[in-house]
Amino acid sequence: MLKNKHILDPWSIIENKFDSSKMIDSESIFSLGNGKIGQRGNFEEDFSGNQSIGNYISGIYYKDKTKVGWWKKGYPDYFAKMVNCPNWNTIRIEINNNVLDLNKCKVYSYKRELNMKEGWCERNVELETPNKEKIQIISKKFISLKRENIGVIQYSLKPLNKKIKIKILPAINIDVKNNDANWNQPFLETTKVKSNNNYSIVKSKVINSNFEIATFIKTKYFINSISVQSRFSENKNENLIGSQSEFDLNPENKLTLLKIGGYVNSNDTVKDEFENLINKELISSMDLGFDGLLKENSKAWENIWNDSDIIINGDVFSQQAVRFNIFQLNQTFNGNDPKLNIGPKGFTGEKYGGVTYWDTEAYCIPFYLGTKNSIVSKNLLLQRYNQLPNAILNAEKIGLNHGAALYPMVTANGEECHNEWEITFEEIHRNAAIVQAIKKYVNFTDDFDFINKKAVKILIAISRFWSQRVNFSKELNKYVILGVTGPNEYENNVDNNWYTNYSARWCLQYTIEVLNKISESEINTYNKITLETSLEKDEIKKWNEIIEGIYLPFSKELGVFIQNDGFLNKDLIPAISIPENERPINQNWSWDKILRSPYIKQADVLQGFYFFDDDFDDDEHISNFNYYEQFTVHESSLSACIHSILASKINDLDKAYEYFIRASRLDLDDYNKEIKQGLHITSMGGTWMSVVEGFAGLRVKNNEIHFNTKIPKKWDSYSFKVNVKNRKLSIKIDKNTTTVSLLEGEPINVIINGLKTQLKK
Ligand code: BGC
Repeated sequence: MLKNKHILDPWSIIENKFDSSKMIDSESIFSLGNGKIGQRGNFEEDFSGNQSIGNYISGIYYKDKTKVGWWKKGYPDYFAKMVNCPNWNTIRIEINNNVLDLNKCKVYSYKRELNMKEGWCERNVELETPNKEKIQIISKKFISLKRENIGVIQYSLKPLNKKIKIKILPAINIDVKNNDANWNQPFLETTKVKSNNNYSIVKSKVINSNFEIATFIKTKYFINSISVQSRFSENKNENLIGSQSEFDLNPENKLTLLKIGGYVNSNDTVKDEFENLINKELISSMDLGFDGLLKENSKAWENIWNDSDIIINGDVFSQQAVRFNIFQLNQTFNGNDPKLNIGPKGFTGEKYGGVTYWDTEAYCIPFYLGTKNSIVSKNLLLQRYNQLPNAILNAEKIGLNHGAALYPMVTANGEECHNEWEITFEEIHRNAAIVQAIKKYVNFTDDFDFINKKAVKILIAISRFWSQRVNFSKELNKYVILGVTGPNEYENNVDNNWYTNYSARWCLQYTIEVLNKISESEINTYNKITLETSLEKDEIKKWNEIIEGIYLPFSKELGVFIQNDGFLNKDLIPAISIPENERPINQNWSWDKILRSPYIKQADVLQGFYFFDDDFDDDEHISNFNYYEQFTVHESSLSACIHSILASKINDLDKAYEYFIRASRLDLDDYNKEIKQGLHITSMGGTWMSVVEGFAGLRVKNNEIHFNTKIPKKWDSYSFKVNVKNRKLSIKIDKNTTTVSLLEGEPINVIINGLKTQLKK
């Protein structure tokens, strides 16, 4: 078990030690966001220690020109990266003409709390400057859920031992760059700067694109809670846009700054309207003041928790973790804007560019489907639907035709961004995750209109992809899929990855099933779809042949499916033999050594057992889980949750709990030693799945809702709500009983641990 560096609390993440070298890690944990804008937990004042300043706007990205050692035909021109925007949080403080920098002070009392219930972060620091001035700083901030363009900071400073002269410069820092930039070039250019006493605005343009943003701040001062006019003094910092004020403060007198800031952007506002919108935002929010805004924000969080909380009694370690995951998912994406999606690190770091991966469909849609209005998941799927033409172009680039689609590995607008051949061209299983999400969405919502009229076109295009990507092996007398990378990226360019082959077959089967249903129920729609997609009978015939004849590697001797051809030739030494100081192997071993090893980055065969669990009996579940688990190093955040769900399924609850903890506390306890890069937001959806689909066993099968409930030893009880089949259900599970109640919607049957019960209000 790793050392837990945060105080255990059911609703808060609390750090009470100041370790300058670890602040960059904490910045990730204390990130804030509202689905539209977000930021890392940077200090407002100067900090010369290791830090990574980050402020981002969802959907605002730069096309960073591809940089590779050796160009391969078919590589995309660019990688979309969300832009690190001017920092509206900055507050430069000078105490008796010396810039305040926590890294240079003696910090003798420190507490930072992220309050997840109400959605704010507060830092309370007592320090002594090199000149022996003792100061207390309390800074409380949040990003408003209600007013999506703004964040609010209340920053108080109190001298504790001497009278001080303080210069305070609440600013927009324009000297900010993306850390992850291929050519070390700026992504943004400043087009206009305006600063006028308490109000400043910076307009910027994303280079080589049409995206424009405006960053703004407005400030107000109080001494001992009484509003005061400030004495302005000259601001000589050309990168810090704002007005500097001066105050003389006696000990125990508290200076408080209210700073409201944020962004408007051209994705949803015409640029000529930027200033009007900002004025409107600022007038109403300044009128409300910090307390009013905070109250409004707490209310918005209360509503969110009301729908999405998972309450765990008896184990605060789990409770804190699960809430941290749900909190971050809600901070990252709220579904209000159909153009936006979920980056693997949300607003908490730049790795992965902040754009869309298969993570959205495989790990996030279940959470949003279960806890939000169904339109949220539908919008995510509609994005893929709208991007189908690009996915078709993408498949054409690799030589396929006739409307075959390969969805990108990474994308902002439907164009592929990824540029490692073994992933871009080969990690094609991503297509299947989209089909999985469509199926889950339809099972949960009964939105047949969506699948019959729209999503079916995705299914056809993906089936065409598989039917062209397979080839017939005379040697095996089977269809094979060569040159792929499975979810386990620690093996590349393999043949017959079982998960990919199985998924391909399943996509074909599901597409045929859906087409049959449409032809039986809506023949006109069927005719329209076949006409629009030029679908021919011969194609379906070929799909059926592939379904019958696809090669699925299996070892009779071991009684397990084989991850891919050649896997059994490896030195099959369980991962437990890897010394602790060589983990994670991706930070310690050469790529060559990793590729030759049997070690599995994340669920691969087991990803298939998760998606297709009903296709296998208990013995198959047990043998495959036991076999692959021993080689899996879980160096992708997406691994532990799947293992937890499968361990629940095979009734190994201790293991299910262990993996649940690993999934849910991955970031809080930094299992993979990479927290400074940001949080693993998409895998947080997996944490939710490991409770709802794992311990509570929620499935929709044959159009019926099933719960197959279990409870970890350490928990007394747990409860949550879920939206399914246009109903809202409440589920409470304790050591002996499971209670499912209908909160909203018409009566419905549910099958609880094998027994059918009718739920009525
Ligand atoms: C995983 C991928 C995932 C990506 C983004 C990688 O480490 O192997 O499956 O899509 O991270 O989360």
